Amino acid sequence: MASIMVLNGPNLNLLGTREPAQYGHETLADVEKLCADAAAALGHQVVCHQSNHEGVLIDLIHEAGQRVKSGDMLGVVFNPGAYTHTSIALHDAIKGADVPVIEVHISNVHARESFRHHSYISPVAAGMVVGMGVQGYVLGIQGLVSKRA
Ligand code: DQA
Repeated sequence: MASIMVLNGPNLNLLGTREPAQYGHETLADVEKLCADAAAALGHQVVCHQSNHEGVLIDLIHEAGQRVKSGDMLGVVFNPGAYTHTSIALHDAIKGADVPVIEVHISNVHARESFRHHSYISPVAAGMVVGMGVQGYVLGIQGLVSKRA
């Protein structure tokens, strides 16, 4: 059994009440339970984190990189929230830590404002899931596991 980090960035602690037309009615706790069940069905476990702080997210990516190297973690299913569109530091962290990341967006960012169309994360991601609602996290977990099998 290996671990998968499920990492959520800024404002995703507000899931369930934040813009439900975009992000649905499930809470972050619901999402984390969905992820735990999806990982367990594949014989793995999740470690879930959420932070509104860029530096904390960077530290967690570094930690995941160490755990991937030591063999007890497969990678990270990461919704970077708005940092997707702004953070060269997160881009560098993923590249520097050499950690497999599946980028997840609940909404279809390409059907929204143009400032959401560019991602600093996609060029260093192993894959991405966009616009599939919270089910995107499950697809991300399945994708990460099948890539690492
Ligand atoms: C998001 C899309 C981002 O543009 C936005 O800033 C978010 C959530 C999504 O899951 O659809 O916070 O990453």
